[in-house]
Amino acid sequence: MCGIVGYVGPKHPSDVVVDGLTALEYRGYDSAGLAVLVGKRIELLRTVGRVQGLRELVEKSDLSGSQSAIGHTRWATHGVPSVTNAHPHANTDQTIFVVHNGIIENYQEIKSRLQAKGYQFASETDTEVVPQLIDYYVKEGLALEPAFKAALKDLRGAYALLVISSVEPDTLLAAKLSSPLVLGIGDGEMIIASDPLALVEHTKKVVYLEDGQVIRVTKDTYHIENLAEEKPVRAKVELLTDIDGTTGKGNFPHFMLKEIYEAPNTLKLATAGRVHAHEGLVKLGGLENVAEQLRHIDRLVIVACGTSSYAGMVGEYFMEELAGLPTEVQLASEFVYRDEPLSRSTAVLAISQSGETADTISALKKVENYGCLRLGVVNAVGSTIARMTDAGVYCHAGPEQAVASTKAFIAQVTVLLLIALYLNNGKTEQYKPLLEELEALPDKAAAVLSQAKHIEAMARKYAMYRDFLFIGRRYAFPCALEGALKLKECSYIHAEGYAAGEMKHGPLAMIDPNFPTFALACDSPLLEKTLSNIQEIRARKGPVVAIATEGNKHIRKLADDVIYVPDTLEQLQPVLAAIVEQLFAYYVAVAKGLDMDRPRNLAKSVTVE
Ligand code: M6R
Repeated sequence: MCGIVGYVGPKHPSDVVVDGLTALEYRGYDSAGLAVLVGKRIELLRTVGRVQGLRELVEKSDLSGSQSAIGHTRWATHGVPSVTNAHPHANTDQTIFVVHNGIIENYQEIKSRLQAKGYQFASETDTEVVPQLIDYYVKEGLALEPAFKAALKDLRGAYALLVISSVEPDTLLAAKLSSPLVLGIGDGEMIIASDPLALVEHTKKVVYLEDGQVIRVTKDTYHIENLAEEKPVRAKVELLTDIDGTTGKGNFPHFMLKEIYEAPNTLKLATAGRVHAHEGLVKLGGLENVAEQLRHIDRLVIVACGTSSYAGMVGEYFMEELAGLPTEVQLASEFVYRDEPLSRSTAVLAISQSGETADTISALKKVENYGCLRLGVVNAVGSTIARMTDAGVYCHAGPEQAVASTKAFIAQVTVLLLIALYLNNGKTEQYKPLLEELEALPDKAAAVLSQAKHIEAMARKYAMYRDFLFIGRRYAFPCALEGALKLKECSYIHAEGYAAGEMKHGPLAMIDPNFPTFALACDSPLLEKTLSNIQEIRARKGPVVAIATEGNKHIRKLADDVIYVPDTLEQLQPVLAAIVEQLFAYYVAVAKGLDMDRPRNLAKSVTVE
């Protein structure tokens, strides 16, 4: 969703900020803006659409001699995408400019209060109350920083805020509550951003701000305080060792395709140093410090959203089958508002690619005082969720930039399998074969990718249907849900995922020649049952595309089209089937001329509830 970058230092601040915003483009946004301090005046540049438009505005402006700048990419929540609603927002005197991620929940109340005192508002946003409120406190006699703190104390909701003012030209002020913010410490320069990707090109030395902290930054200094106690905080300076600043598409036309093609490497990275098939060992350094606690866990609740929740559902089957651990997956947005009893022997496992999903963060916050062990399966190193959890296992999939999650799903499923095997500790007969198969999987993933042309042809054939059903059983069931999500977000086709066994309980009523089904029908003890479901669909003239295991000739007689995947253990079929589904969704979007990297209405990182 929204992205924030601020810079103070000797480089061209507007260039640093616009480059930072470009690195955050993948998060999804609809407008972009910049406030640049030039001498004693602040230049405001804003545009609807891409950061490239903002870059062009910068090139046309005279910003020479500028000292600092703040910028923002906005994903509309309060008010339509427009220049007026784009950030930065300012006070009426245009002396205090603010960018904001998150939502100010009590903005109406503050707005009314300020309007009663004569303040006028230009935008429909919640954010505009912030510079106006700071202005109010300045006019009450406070200096800029105390006025900022006083304003923060009036706000309810979630925020990462960055302030620039002509009143104190060399200073940036920032604050964080439930929205990420990281300070990059350079040599005679400082950069603040909502995501380390925006600053990694300039410095690897960072401080992750904590909730309730306020920071004042000049080009050479930073000072962090706890807002509630107004006491200085000793910051922990960390090194960004695992973050790759490469954000290009390489030779691929889209990030999504590039990321799908990274599947074999993703599998290698997720298992590297962790799987030792010869010795029959799974080593998970991230769980070592809670190994003893894990022995006393009798229930696991997985919390996640979207694709991560479907990876969690695959994980649920792993935990039950391989670790004998009662497990359930809850959508984070529902978990937060449920009143279920949770005991100390329950562990809560959050799964998140970005590590910044607001609902998943809220789910972890909810159990903060329950004494539950909080675990994470996270891709983004150093992200909020990674830092909130007691222990966890990184996915190591590298930055994922297309809105549609692809390689992250594969890494999440792999890591969840490793956790289940780690808990199983060699007790099941499947332990060794699974470890060996994990080593063979990258080549099998590459074999699936080599069928891209065939899948593309299939996608072109089915691209103009309006509806699609995805069905599967057991491990293939969450995969059906994931296939449907992938297709709908990339191609805007109505798609639903169902447990194949549910067909007769309702969905079969929809089937006719215009309603195709994607059947996940790889070899498994339940294959015959899935084949019966396919028969029932065909009997109602519903077109069927099947994913089947290489060598299954029989299925050709049942399905209209078949995409074969290499033989693998049932537990690992979701990985290979997901690659087929991802390619299918990608090519349908290509056939329809859609921007699958940035689908309409969606953002990569969903940082508001
Ligand atoms: O970053 P997270 O894994 O927490 O994100 C969760 C969902 O927002 C995400 O998986 C979303 O469903 C994807 N766009 C699906 O491709």
